[in-house]
Amino acid sequence: MFQERISDAEFNRFKDFIYDRAGIRLSDEKKTLVTSRLSKRLRHYSMTSFGTYFDLMTELGREKEQQIVIDLLTTNETFFFREPKHFEFLANDIIPTLNRNKRFRVWSAASSTGKEAYSVAMLLDDKLNNNLWEILGSDINHTVLQEAALGLYQQDRIDGIPADYLKKYCFKGKDEFEGKLLIDKGLIDRVKFIYVNLTLPLDEFGTFQLILLRNVLIYFDNETKSQIIKKVVLKLESGGFLFIGHAESLKGFTHGLIRISSSIYKKP
Ligand SMILES: C[S@@+](CC[C@H](N)C(=O)[O-])C[C@H]1O[C@@H](n2cnc3c(N)ncnc32)[C@H](O)[C@@H]1O
Repeated sequence: MFQERISDAEFNRFKDFIYDRAGIRLSDEKKTLVTSRLSKRLRHYSMTSFGTYFDLMTELGREKEQQIVIDLLTTNETFFFREPKHFEFLANDIIPTLNRNKRFRVWSAASSTGKEAYSVAMLLDDKLNNNLWEILGSDINHTVLQEAALGLYQQDRIDGIPADYLKKYCFKGKDEFEGKLLIDKGLIDRVKFIYVNLTLPLDEFGTFQLILLRNVLIYFDNETKSQIIKKVVLKLESGGFLFIGHAESLKGFTHGLIRISSSIYKKP
């Protein structure tokens, strides 16, 4: 297929744009990725130059196009029950200690398509029989947020879902939904998804006893990472837990949190 070429100068303009808007640091190795992800926008406008497309996209009044670029340049890989140790910790170490008269609030802070939030929802519905829980999912990417709100997925990488949860909370589509997996409506109604850019001041959406900030810190430089952790810690209640991805680290940026394990932190 015909592939438009991006010059170093053009690549740097997109690199600065995504850093400025989302805090994401793209390394020079990401040139091919940027080219392949944005090529369809050039074709949409019948353009052959990334520079011309950049000029158009950054014009005043082109916020929708700018959001499309943000959606295309964020990496949204996720799957159900990813990093199972966190779900074991939630089931064995957090849930048994909860005050059953208090609403348990969870924030999936870079939720992508919502598979993380629905995995937590399945566990909470199963283990907490008081219905006193709620989950907020948020992301900077509009496309994944729409998918999350629908709770309708391709039936791939579902092997992490425990067999009894698959039976109880997931429905395999037929006819036009062949190959799709639909989350139980009761769970969809309990999980809310909103747009949150973690690099901006956070809105007033309450505090949480558990925050999952997993597999997103890797995209930020140390300064951005530290600022985000500081804001997220303010959203965590005393005694609450923060989960980060297993490949990530809070070294030097714990902002008063106590380390329970390499990817689990507690607010004293
Ligand atoms: C790799 S996914 C991780 C999804 C999920 N937490 C998991 O571990 O499976 C990273 C997500 O972070 C989001 N993201 C990147 N920068 C962000 C920012 N500045 N604010 C909010 N979300 C951001 C991306 O859109 C993407 O959906």
